[in-house]
Amino acid sequence: MVSVELRNVSKRWDGFELRVDLSVKDGEFLTLLGPSGCGKTTTLRIIAGLEKPDSGRVLFDGTDVTDLEPNERNIGIVFQDYALFPHMTVFKNIAFGLEMRKLPRGEIERRVKWALELVGLSGLENRYPEQLSGGQQQRVALARALVIEPEVLLLDEPLSNLDAKIRERLRSEIRRIQRELGITTVYVTHDQEEAMAVSDRIAVMNVGRIEQIGEPLELYYKPRTEFVARFLGTSNILELEAENGVARLGNLEFSVGVDGKVKVFFRPESVLITEGEDATVTGYELLPGRMRLYLDVEGHTIIAERPLPDLPFEPNRVPPRVGILVRSFSLLSL
Ligand SMILES: Nc1ncnc2c1ncn2[C@@H]1O[C@H](COP(=O)(O)OP(=O)(O)OP(=O)(O)O)[C@@H](O)[C@H]1O
Ligand SMILES: [Mg+2]
Repeated sequence: MVSVELRNVSKRWDGFELRVDLSVKDGEFLTLLGPSGCGKTTTLRIIAGLEKPDSGRVLFDGTDVTDLEPNERNIGIVFQDYALFPHMTVFKNIAFGLEMRKLPRGEIERRVKWALELVGLSGLENRYPEQLSGGQQQRVALARALVIEPEVLLLDEPLSNLDAKIRERLRSEIRRIQRELGITTVYVTHDQEEAMAVSDRIAVMNVGRIEQIGEPLELYYKPRTEFVARFLGTSNILELEAENGVARLGNLEFSVGVDGKVKVFFRPESVLITEGEDATVTGYELLPGRMRLYLDVEGHTIIAERPLPDLPFEPNRVPPRVGILVRSFSLLSL
């Protein structure tokens, strides 16, 4: 297995410029997360060698591979649209890369069998792609990428054509296989839940740049920018004036350690609900096992989410005003 590094990589098109520095550790599962058009696929294609950067270098385990073709890089790729050969059986589809490499017959059979077992498709080797469900087709694509025993696995929105239940199952299976093989993986998605669920680290991208990179919970609870905060879920962002190191809103006090304008950030589940009069309830929603409350404090909206047993009132008797406590917060850059 290898580490992957993008050093000062740039790529320019009409109206778009990608600039990335990125270091993926040996055996790591790193996700590129961001909205459509931010440069996720381009970054992945540069790692694969399908796209040449205008400047900068691509390194595998410290070795410069920038000028190597994709087939010289020992990578496995899975795309969104499966891209299976329709006229070939599952076996043939998976064996294709090995036949190109002219491996002996017995070795090919052994490896295809291994890959089929790995992705849970044993017994389906004689089917054609059109005789498979979307989820099964994507498993074939995954087996085809893994069968060559690549040093780096690249996945570009591999689950986005599947329905929600299958997506959840397959994502945890991809993660299991990745851990089992210890394979360095770069995964592309625009689905924040998927990214949180599978990644060792997430790089959040925004218009051609990595805005922040870190472990899922670090990004979720300590985003540096409003973009990252909003992209990773529901946010409370309060623009307040701090005096003597403290920003106040109603009875809430945030020890921010600076003076002047600040952006205080916290997640809905960091808001505790108590009996009290701090906030006016302007709306609420019952969600599976929890309640979301929309609150107003001096013209600022705060969203709180609590498990039902933690509410100081019955879910069907929401009082007009509640007390609130914010358990933890961080500051966003202005
Ligand atoms: N071959 C190309 N020629 C010109 N522009 C391109 C080319 N490939 C990508 N782009 C542009 O580069 C930008 C980033 O594209 P990219 O496909 O990397 O985004 P993405 O983050 O993968 O988006 P999506 O989530 O929609 O797949 C877009 O503005 C796109 O139009
Ligand atoms: Mg893309």
